[in-house]
Amino acid sequence: MTLAPAAPTAATDAPAFPVRGHTARLPWPFPDDLDAFRYSVNVEPARLVRRTAAGEWGATIVDLGGEEYGAIMAERRRILDADPHRVRIMPGMLPACWDLLLYYLRDLAASYPAIMRLDEDPRDPDRFRWRNAALGTDQTFVLGDATSLPWDPMTFLGREVPDDLLLVKERDGELCFDAGLVTFAAAWSVSFDVGMTMAEIHNPVPRLTREGITSRAEQFLRRLPVDQVYRRVNWTLSASGSRLLDVSLEELPAWAGDIPALVAAEDWGRLQLRIEVEHFIRLPMTGAVTFNIRTHMTSLEEIRQVPAWRDQLARVVLELPEDLAAYKGFLDYREPAMAWLTRR
Ligand code: HEM
Repeated sequence: MTLAPAAPTAATDAPAFPVRGHTARLPWPFPDDLDAFRYSVNVEPARLVRRTAAGEWGATIVDLGGEEYGAIMAERRRILDADPHRVRIMPGMLPACWDLLLYYLRDLAASYPAIMRLDEDPRDPDRFRWRNAALGTDQTFVLGDATSLPWDPMTFLGREVPDDLLLVKERDGELCFDAGLVTFAAAWSVSFDVGMTMAEIHNPVPRLTREGITSRAEQFLRRLPVDQVYRRVNWTLSASGSRLLDVSLEELPAWAGDIPALVAAEDWGRLQLRIEVEHFIRLPMTGAVTFNIRTHMTSLEEIRQVPAWRDQLARVVLELPEDLAAYKGFLDYREPAMAWLTRR
């Protein structure tokens, strides 16, 4: 899918459809005129505000999630405390993690000045004070000094933002996924994937490498300039019939029975569309590239209330070729689920 040409709108425009906050903020993954979805290098400039049938999204790199921010961060912190393997930093990647931390804290302070603040010490350019009133964080640190933070810099950032954090670095001529903090993976594992090349990671995805999309994605990442941020939207039907974000392979026993139970009960309204907004940033000090993933969920019950979304999702899901529907996990139940969605 390549998104339609940029159509920025003012963030103050009233949404056409009166709906609750969660739906109004949702990054609907399909352009208005899309009826058939195929994989592509579907990147577009970041911070572009997109109107949807229910509201708008996309003004900032980090979407804190409004009133859901506290609950998402509590879940993120619970997982990090319980499972240290969700953070994997390959040797030599700590400078890139500091680079990531400073870039994001500066961006957050600029995007959310009412609750977030980063002060630089005029006497010492490496000394900072970060305050996040929403989570009660007040931390002074020295850039590059591991002893000045309670966690490594990637973990410190991951406890402040809802995004999964992934860093790509060129190693031996290959683009490698060499550091990550991932608590909300869609049926993959950061421990398993970290250190892999782009080709190795994307091999399980049908068509991607064969159709040249993996190599075009690599070209895009290699050419990404420092001063331009891009994003991409990805989607699937979630492997859980709830808002559970952590459907990672680490937690497979906890969610593996969820969809079979939902299908047996024909409880289609609980099925979740899972939307991932991914940001690509070339970090200024180290040249590492981010692939940070912010995951959103919305149920078929909610989608049914927005007629344009209801009809478009059903068309796209039913039209998808079998190999893609199988990879996304809904080949076996897409027909009854979409019949429920569109039933009048
Ligand atoms: C423009 C760049 C990229 C494109 C176009 C792209 C494309 C894709 C697509 C189409 C999928 C299948 C997703 C689905 O159907 O739900 C996928 C999966 C995935 N991608 Fe990427 N990707 C890109 C960059 C990256 C990067 C930089 C990383 C890691 C740092 C990455 C990590 C993954 C992982 C872990 C999966 C799941 C694979 C699995 O099922 O085991 N991708 N990607």
